[in-house]
This record gives sequence, C-alpha cells and structure tokens, in this order.
Amino acid sequence: MREFEFHVPTKILFGSGAEEKTGAAAAAEGAGRVLVLYGGGSAVRGGLVDRVKLSLAQAGIDCAVKGGVRPNPVLEFALETVREYRDQGIGLVLAVGGGSVMDTAKAVAAGLASSAAGMEEAFRGRAPLGAALGVGAVVTMAASGSETSPTAVLSDGRTHEKLICTSPLLVPRFAILNPELTCTTPPLQTACGAADILMHTLERYCADLGGNALTDALAEGLMRTVVEYGPRCLAEPGDYAARSELMWCGSLSHCGLTGLGRDNGFPVHRLGHELAARYDIPHGMSLTILWPHWARAARRVLAPRLARLARTVFGAAEPEEDAASLACIHAVSAWFEGLGLPVSFAQAPMGREEDQVLAQFAARCTSGGTAPLGGLCPLDYGQVLAVYRAANGG
Ligand code: NZQ
Ligand code: ZN
Repeated sequence: MREFEFHVPTKILFGSGAEEKTGAAAAAEGAGRVLVLYGGGSAVRGGLVDRVKLSLAQAGIDCAVKGGVRPNPVLEFALETVREYRDQGIGLVLAVGGGSVMDTAKAVAAGLASSAAGMEEAFRGRAPLGAALGVGAVVTMAASGSETSPTAVLSDGRTHEKLICTSPLLVPRFAILNPELTCTTPPLQTACGAADILMHTLERYCADLGGNALTDALAEGLMRTVVEYGPRCLAEPGDYAARSELMWCGSLSHCGLTGLGRDNGFPVHRLGHELAARYDIPHGMSLTILWPHWARAARRVLAPRLARLARTVFGAAEPEEDAASLACIHAVSAWFEGLGLPVSFAQAPMGREEDQVLAQFAARCTSGGTAPLGGLCPLDYGQVLAVYRAANGG
C-alpha cells in the first residue's frame, strides 16, 4: 500500500432537522459572533435562514446575515464582504447553501483573519494562506463536497479566470447535512451535483492503476451508489432515502478518502474550469462536456482502469480490456446523458465555439504550452487542444 496522510477534522451532523443543531455546533467552536452567508434566496424562501438564526440565538450566539452569493462565485463579492465585516467581531463564518456559498465563506473567513489583500494574494497563488477563521456549513445541495474539502474556488469577475486556494485552514469545522434541505434543488442542479460527485472520485480513480486495494473498493462503492441514486433523486425529488445517499456520497467523494495513496492533478476539473468561467455554466456540466473526450485521449494509459470501472461499477461483461475500456466511456457518457446533461459543446447552452477560443483554453491549461496537463496520462498543449476540439464536435 502506498503512503498517505488523512485528516478530515469536519464534524458531520447528519439527518432530518440537523440544522437545529447549528447553534450548539457553533458554540462548541467558541464562535462568539457568527457571520451567516447565503446565496440567491433559496435558503430564505424555505425558512432555513430563519431556523439557523433561531438555533444560533438559542445557543446565545449573535449573528450578522448577508445574502447574494451567486453560482460561480466571484472574488470581488468575498473582498467586499471582508471589508464590510472586518471590524464587527466575527468569530466564525457560517455558509448556508451549496458549494458557491461555502467557498465564499472560506474566502471571507480567510480575509477576516488576515486582510482582504492577504486573502486575495492567496487566491491568486502569490502567497500562502496565513490564517482563517473557522467555517461551518449548513449544506443545501449535494455536489461540491466543499463541506469537507480544504479548497475554495472563486472566479475573477473581470477576467473570468477560476482562482483556486487550497489550505488545511479552509476545511470546515462542522457540516450540517439534512438531506431534506436538498429536496428543493432544481433538476438541473441535482443532475450537475450528481455528476460532480461522481467525478470527484472518478478523477481520483483515474490517477493510478492500482496500489491501494481498499481505496479502490471505497471508490467503486461510492461510484456505484452515485450511479444508482443520482437518477433516483431526479425521478423522485422528495425521496429522502435517495437524497441521503447522494448527500453522503458528496461529502465523502471530495474529502480525500477515495483517493488515498495517489497524486491527482484533477485534469478534467482543470479543463472544465475554463468552460464554467467563460460561459457561467454549472460546474458539473463543464465536467460532463469534457470527460468522455479526455477519457478517449487518456485511454492509451488508462485502459486497464477504465475496463475495471466498466465491470465493477457499470456491470460491463466485455472480457477484452480494449472493448471494456470503450464500454466504460460509453457507459459514463450514457449516464451523464440520462441525467439530461451534455457531453459536447453542441448539446450545451453555449453551443459550438470558435477554434481560437479553444486554443486559449488549451494554452491556459498548459501554462502557455510549457507544462502538460497533469494526471497519470499527461497531455501536452496539442493533445489538450484536441480534447477541446473533440468536445466541440471534431
Ligand atoms: O443561490 P441559491 O438561491 O441558494 O440557489 C442555488 C444556486 O442557484 C441553488 N440551490 C442550492 N441549494 C438549493 C438550491 N435551490 C433550491 N433548493 C436548494 N436546496 O443551486 C444553484 C447552484 O448552487 P451552487 O452552490 O453554485 O452549486 P454547487 O454546490 O454545485 O457549487 C458549485 C461551485 O463549487 C465549486 C465550483 O467551481 C462552483 O463554483 N467547487 C468547489 C469545490 C471545493 N470547494 O472543494 C470542488 C468542486 O470541484 C467545485 O469546483
Ligand atoms: Zn468538482
């Protein structure tokens, strides 16, 4: 077994009505005053923000509340929030929402513990993150896994570049997971969330050909669960059991558990961030558009892995590795399409793109052609451009 480190300090409070424990969880962190962040209003419409405020009040915790985080959240909003609340005695930032709200909360927590400028430097990769307040999350959507991850992803609102900051300081201290809260997630977001959850483990699975047997077994079990319950959540949005399975998969898929002992460049995420940033499409959709085409390019190295995935997760019967690896790409693509998600530019809201824009994407993914896109099968500039062209329709 290959060496690894594993430390996920997030306290998970899972179950119906779990948001009523928010106050106690924040008090256990010695929170003092809490800044509650939410998104465009879904958490207000369902009364969730009021329930969270009540729980905090019952624990004797004062709070400030700010909404307005948008999907594909921008750095500028986080900077503005830091400036607004920097002298207000905030001790913990509480996200009530999906990945966009959680990632913004992480950035705000970093900025409040140091400065807006210091936080921006860290997100632009110019300096390490020095400090961050604690973050808590009341999760309303099964998708990003930000509730257990050390990462936050924000966009530069001017250049639309995705800025990624990873630090152990950003791992949330606690996450409230009530699957009922996810039952109102719109179908498109449910589908994109399921795809993102699958991809967090699939990218890790494709980062090695073996080595840690338990890691593989955990990964395959998680992917089988997502493949089964993602479509069930779409068919029966109020199915608590299905929502529970998908939500727990979301939290475990991106905490590192399903990739122990292997390095990962998350190549498809890197490719997809270009699309989500430019076209403002959901993150999960950016991955479904590109994964099949990336997998075809990487198959020369990954065929044994894809063949195993086809058999263990999708029940493929092809005995030959080559045929089974192709069956895998077909099965994953069909699963994405079954969720109603695109597997090409043409099927996506933005439609086909000019070749010169694809060249810009490829250049950014390869540092201007100087560094290959990482992963077990590194792709150079020309190969990355070929992936974008294939996704664009040849
Ligand atoms: O803003 P509101 O009104 O809340 O509506 C949201 C938003 O429009 C809605 N929604 C969420 N929960 C709902 C709901 N609507 C009704 N009922 C509910 N219960 O869904 C829409 C999308 O929300 P968003 O938070 O953007 O989705 P998601 O959780 O997929 O997060 C996507 C963001 O996470 C980043 C992505 O890049 C993207 O910016 N990621 C963060 C990661 C991390 N921190 O580790 C890893 C991921 O790979 C990903 O990159
Ligand atoms: Zn993702």
